[in-house]
Amino acid sequence: MIDITNDIIHMHNDHISLVFTIENKRLLMRYLGKPIRHYHQSLNLQHYKREFNTQHEGFDPKVSFDDLPFVYPVAGHGDYRIPALQVSVNGTAFCDLYFKSAKLLNHKPALPHLPSARDGECLALVLEDPYLHFEIHLYYTLYPEGIITASAMLVNSDQDLTIDHIQSVSLDLSADSYKLMSLYGLHAKEANLQEVPLSHGITRLSSTRGCSSPHTSDFAALISPHQVIAITLAYSGNFAITFDHDSFGKVRMQAGLNSDTFSWHLAPHERFYTPEAIINIASDIDTMTQQFHTFFQEHLFSTRHHERYVLLNSWEAMYYDVSMTRILKQVEKAQDLGIELFVLDDGWFRKGLSSHDSMGDYQVNTNKLPDGITGVAKLVHAHHMKFGLWFEPEAIGKISQLITDHPEYVPHVPGYTLTQGRHEYLLDLSRQDVRDHIMTMLSGYLDTHQIDYIKWDMNRPMSDVGSGEKAHRYILGLYEILEAITSRYPEVIFEGCASGGARLDPGMLYYMDQNWSSDNTDAHDRYTIEQGLSLLYPPKTLGAHVSTVPNHQTARLTPWESRFHMACLFNLGYELDLTQLSDQESAQMKKDIAFYKSIRYWDARLIQCDQGFEWVKKDQSEAVIVLYVPLYNPLLSQKRYRIKGLNPQLDYYDVQTQKYYGGDELCQIGLSLPLVREDFHTILIHLKAIG
Ligand code: GLA
Repeated sequence: MIDITNDIIHMHNDHISLVFTIENKRLLMRYLGKPIRHYHQSLNLQHYKREFNTQHEGFDPKVSFDDLPFVYPVAGHGDYRIPALQVSVNGTAFCDLYFKSAKLLNHKPALPHLPSARDGECLALVLEDPYLHFEIHLYYTLYPEGIITASAMLVNSDQDLTIDHIQSVSLDLSADSYKLMSLYGLHAKEANLQEVPLSHGITRLSSTRGCSSPHTSDFAALISPHQVIAITLAYSGNFAITFDHDSFGKVRMQAGLNSDTFSWHLAPHERFYTPEAIINIASDIDTMTQQFHTFFQEHLFSTRHHERYVLLNSWEAMYYDVSMTRILKQVEKAQDLGIELFVLDDGWFRKGLSSHDSMGDYQVNTNKLPDGITGVAKLVHAHHMKFGLWFEPEAIGKISQLITDHPEYVPHVPGYTLTQGRHEYLLDLSRQDVRDHIMTMLSGYLDTHQIDYIKWDMNRPMSDVGSGEKAHRYILGLYEILEAITSRYPEVIFEGCASGGARLDPGMLYYMDQNWSSDNTDAHDRYTIEQGLSLLYPPKTLGAHVSTVPNHQTARLTPWESRFHMACLFNLGYELDLTQLSDQESAQMKKDIAFYKSIRYWDARLIQCDQGFEWVKKDQSEAVIVLYVPLYNPLLSQKRYRIKGLNPQLDYYDVQTQKYYGGDELCQIGLSLPLVREDFHTILIHLKAIG
């Protein structure tokens, strides 16, 4: 519901209220949080005369702009906190914004070449600069899941303008005690959870790597004693989520493009659209997670495919040394075990056995695969499996035919040495000819070979782009290709990947059906990676593979059971040499896959619990719970594991032990587990409601 009365605009539903007021032609944000029926200015803040402060026409002299909760703040007029917008004209960086209009829209407008959520109740607020006459249109869309999305559009008037800084949203929150939750990491150790008190001053989570990055995820949750306000962006490039915690304890929270690597020239009468921010208001972290999962699935992420095919990926079994004989052996065994999709990873077009050559050429190496990709596809299909193929479409090798033919495809600042990453450069996706080249190459494969699945990888950070405009145009170019290719081939499943989870964000999952979570397949590390990622992302979207031991990334030895358990609640795959399995392992794998197939399409929620994950049917009639005990420890003999998602009114029986428990008992008292002398130990509990 959106009420617009006099100078108060109130967006609200069962989960959220967002209150704007218009005071002396300024648009202010007076409240964001749990729902209220009406706003009657209950918060009558005490202003007092201060020195070293500013005064403003029309406002009480005791009120400075530094105190006011501007909806879209600008710099230079006495609000010394972080601005949402900075523009310059002929070298003068100055602007001001006054309220112009508020309108309820019948349809939420889509953002050109940017992912944006569907449906919702949308409000458009227009602000205008009194001198430069450009307008800022702010879109806020309310969703029943406790989510608001927000984006901004700058509509230029008749001058050349440079946008130095522009945010998707700015939220001014009243004084409280705040903790900040975020995810940090690196390649093969993504999504580590961190929670710290929000310190006074400016805190910024950001990326300049040209992708949302494994180092800092584009997610933050501000936790106060009353609620959680979490934010993320439907964007895959350089971003910033910034907090300005002022001396009074108030917080300004912004999300948008990272100005360190952004600037944009806007010609007269052109428009600029920011990416969409997603704001989640929840009573606690568990609720935040459920709201993200539902919202993403219902309103943002790709809805083309429901399938969660059990896949076998060739990478850790063969690396670059792919051959028809090796593929045949894997495929024969895979079919028998219940695998449904075989993905041929890197190596198929490389002349050698490394990442040194041929990136971008995609000429199949017929010494490795004499019958080409058609031969592999036929073989896989003959074994009643789907066929997937790996590409790294955005890259070009230092040693490749493509770079010889088209050196201009590489972003390069003349006179400077180019920066390599994994022996390659990125293609300049801001160029139309490069985008056409990628579309033609991929369409060629999809039109002539029976490819059911594409793994779209991207293995190096951005460099040498030379301008903030190009860094953003690259991402717009990427989205344009993804939109085109996924629309032209709707039946093909797309998996996103960037050296694992280096570009795993709501923007990519708007196009991709699923994403590879991490190159690290070690069960122990996967637990924390999955904990971090599943705070936001539904399990279907997160690829989780069982691999061999010693683990190729960590050399750790973990039990087979734990490796399966850590993968089975997500999008299950295998990444190992099936010919090396013992008979016992093969038999177990067959059973595991059958079990996974029996639970994968449940209408269920993924819930994080004490030491593990729960996969609970929405009607609470059945649940699978995976609990993790990293180290054998006699002190754990007295530990109880509380189960969260069950119905306290129902009784459940444990399918393995045939024991009965009350839902309330499992939730309040919890379960004790047998003390097993094994490190990296997991326990899977399958509960069914009685009656
Ligand atoms: C990246 C991916 C891996 C694999 C290799 C192939 O590292 O994350 O899964 O595809 O590239 O080169």
